[in-house]
Order: sequence, then C-alpha cells, then structure tokens
Amino acid sequence: MHYKVGIIGATGMVGQRFASLLENHPWFEVVCLAASARSAGKTYKEVVGNKWAMATPMPKAMEDMVILDATADIEKIASMVDFVFCAVNMKKDEIKALEEAYAKAECPVISNNSAHRHTPDVPMVVPEINPDHIEIIHSQRKRLGTKRGFIAVKSNCSLQSYVPALHPLKKFGIERALVCTYQAISGAGKTFETMPEIVDNVIPFIGGEEEKSEQEPLKLWGSIEGDVIVPATSPLFTAQCFRVPVSDGHTAAVFVKFENKPSKEEIIKLWAEFSGVPQELQLPSAPKQFLHYFEEDNRPQAKLDRNIEGGMAVSVGRLREDNQYDYKFACLSHNTLRGAAGGAVLLAELLAAKGYID
Ligand SMILES: NC(=O)c1ccc[n+]([C@@H]2O[C@H](COP(=O)([O-])OP(=O)(O)OC[C@H]3O[C@@H](n4cnc5c(N)ncnc54)[C@H](OP(=O)(O)O)[C@@H]3O)[C@@H](O)[C@H]2O)c1
Repeated sequence: MHYKVGIIGATGMVGQRFASLLENHPWFEVVCLAASARSAGKTYKEVVGNKWAMATPMPKAMEDMVILDATADIEKIASMVDFVFCAVNMKKDEIKALEEAYAKAECPVISNNSAHRHTPDVPMVVPEINPDHIEIIHSQRKRLGTKRGFIAVKSNCSLQSYVPALHPLKKFGIERALVCTYQAISGAGKTFETMPEIVDNVIPFIGGEEEKSEQEPLKLWGSIEGDVIVPATSPLFTAQCFRVPVSDGHTAAVFVKFENKPSKEEIIKLWAEFSGVPQELQLPSAPKQFLHYFEEDNRPQAKLDRNIEGGMAVSVGRLREDNQYDYKFACLSHNTLRGAAGGAVLLAELLAAKGYID
C-alpha cells in the first residue's frame, strides 16, 4: 500500500507531530505541506525553524518543501495527494467549510479539528472502540455528492485515556462516570517557553473541554441508524478539565458506577484482554497491548509512561473501590500521539485497510 499525503496545518503543534510520525511511515508518504497565507510560499524550515517542538529533528525530506496555502490551493493540493490530515487553528465555521471543500474536491480528510465531530454523518472514531462507524461514509458521500471525498475525525484528546478504559466494562452497564482531567500544555499548542504562566501553576479552565469530555463519549458509543450516527443516551458523564505544568500526556482521575458491579479481578482481566480491529489487522501504528495496567500505587505517571508503545497505548492504574461510586482509577494517554496525530494516523490506516481511500 502506498498513499501520497498532505498535512494541512503542517506548521502547528499537531502538524509537526504528523510530520515526524509520517517520516518513515510504511504506507503514507508526505508530498505536500500547507498552512495559512502567512506561511505559504516559504519553505518548511524557514517557517518552522526554531518553533520545531519535536524530540527528533525535522524530517530532511520536508525541510525544503514549499508550504502551500491551505485555502487558496485546495484544487492543487487535492490533485497532488490521495488524502490529507488536517489540524488547523481557525474559526469553527471556517474549518467546517475548509474540510468540506477538500472532501468535495474528492480529497478525503482525516481531521483532528473539532468542527465536524458532531456532524451526524461524519464518523468520529477511536479505531479500537467504534471502527464500524466508518460505514457512515457511504451516506456522507451521498450528501456531499462525492465519489472519493469524505471527512473522518478523531475525538478530543481529553477522553482518549478514560473512554478506552471504560469501553470493555460497558457490559456491566455503566450508569455514570465522573472524570477530572489534568491536561498537558502541548494540548494548547504550547511549550514551557511559550506558556510561562503555567510554571508552578494549575489553571482550572480549558475552554470547551468539559463539554467535549462529557458529550463525545456518547457519539463514540452511538450507532448508525439510516444515514446518521445516533449518539448513545447513557452513561451520564460529568467532567472537570484542568491545565497542568506537564509537557505531554493527559491524566484522568475516573469514578464509575455500574448497574452490575464487577469484581476488581474481572475489570483488570478485561483491560488486559482488550484488543480491537487495529490489533487484529496489525495496522502499522496499532499498539500490541492497547491498555497497560500498573499494579504500583504511583503509576501511571505522565513523564514515565506517556511513551509506552510509541505513545499509542493507554496506561491505567490505582483501581480501587470508592465510597460513593463503585470504583475509581487513574489513566493516562499521550495527547499529541494517541490523542491527536497518532490517533489520526491510526484512523487513516484503518480507512486504508478497509478500502475507503483507494
Ligand atoms: N485530539 C485532537 O485531535 C487534538 C489535539 C490537539 C489539537 N487539536 C486541534 O488541532 C488543531 C491544531 O492545533 P495545534 O495545537 O496544532 O494548533 P497550532 O499549533 O496553533 O497550529 C495551527 C495551524 O493552523 C494553521 N492556520 C491558522 N490559520 C489558518 C488559516 N487561516 N488557513 C490555513 N491554516 C491556518 C497554522 O498555520 P500558520 O503557521 O501559517 O499560522 C498552523 O499550521 C486545532 O483545531 C486543535 O483544536 C486536536
């Protein structure tokens, strides 16, 4: 399999992560980088230079690529690539229009943006959880009048740790869940240099994040009915999301109440055995073991555990009984790998393996 790929928003934090993740990807070759008109016409090295925030150097093959204008050059970009990854910082209605314009130019869009997450015929997918939702693409193509073009999105980074941990427990009937997230600054596109106010601090507000953390799990657990995805109506989620002085890795403290309370051993066994379509298909970015459970009281820790299985696995720990809910536990996922670019690359691999971007 070989696909030519563009990165829309290549100069941003998530865009840089795409660039580094795709450097040696076995299926996807980056042939085009795009950003705003401010960056267009300059090379990637010229624009990003000192802003490069990844641990590995900028991919050599991309250094001298001339950045295209994501809005003005849609037709040109669509003619160069088989599909694009998109992560841009624009107004919601502008992102919606931009992504639809690519789809209508017959260029599939795999998006990290939130704009289309609640469009009823746009699949929002965590490949281990709801891979079947990609079938809604047939309905979306009918609406857009396209043969190839479509939009598929990934969910928000905050829920990428706790929804995977709750998913295999759904058979016990999850009545309600309370989550508090402790989110890294890279989730705001920041480093310690660009966000000095976070040093020695905790900020108890991330715009829009609590609503996403409460609502998006219900779309992930929804079902296709006719031409739309109908979100699940339960469980009830409540969330608080804090920004903390951590570079990468979102942690969540989770409390959960079941209709039929399982034993601790049953939960840990289900976590250990949980494996999905990406593992079955052996997709290149799929972690071998999706959920890693730690017995140690002081794990998972962002600094120690965010990079497990290339940052694509989710870590869980501290499972114990609670005096108000049935259980409480902690979980962690790498917000720009599994939670953003890595999750989108895995989704693209799923779509490619299932024939949606041929
Ligand atoms: N879980 C997730 O999926 C997840 C996680 C983190 C972030 N995100 C989302 O991903 C997106 C990007 O986040 P980020 O942290 O990478 O942001 P960022 O570092 O601020 O980067 C923003 C990118 O958007 C481009 N851009 C801005 N205005 C544009 C315009 N008018 N036309 C075309 N491109 C434009 C920028 O290009 P210039 O350099 O030329 O300005 C840059 O490449 C956001 O929507 C964010 O919410 C998603």
